[in-house]
Amino acid sequence: MKLGRLNHIGVATPSIADSIVFYRDVMGATKIHEPFDLRDQGVKICFVDTPTHSGMDGTQIELIEPLPGNASIASFLAKNPQGGQHHLCYEVPDIHIAKAEFEVMGKRVLGEPRIGAHGTLIFFVHPGDMGGVLTEIMETPKNGH
Ligand code: CO
Repeated sequence: MKLGRLNHIGVATPSIADSIVFYRDVMGATKIHEPFDLRDQGVKICFVDTPTHSGMDGTQIELIEPLPGNASIASFLAKNPQGGQHHLCYEVPDIHIAKAEFEVMGKRVLGEPRIGAHGTLIFFVHPGDMGGVLTEIMETPKNGH
């Protein structure tokens, strides 16, 4: 496994609209992207940028709200009604190599690579094999975000 940049931290929320107000007014976020539906995964997503001073892309917060019929985020919210930290997402240069490497190490990759919120291939690794952290692996976008 070739560890890349921490791309984003996934935060589940019962209301992206309320979370936007929080990140803007309490945290001082100035770059909050337009929310959009990721229908394949049954979620609404909103990215909040964290600034950097280097000109490089900063890590983002990925706000995740379940769409009707979604099971996994809805059950997370049933246990955590306010929402909360859901997953960490690291970039890798090649998604298929990364998947094979996790599998060789006996880690449970959850499903086949699929298009994620940044339009590049992603997969998740079971938190039970990752020190309790649900881990998303994404191929580094070729042209930034
Ligand atoms: Co994510």
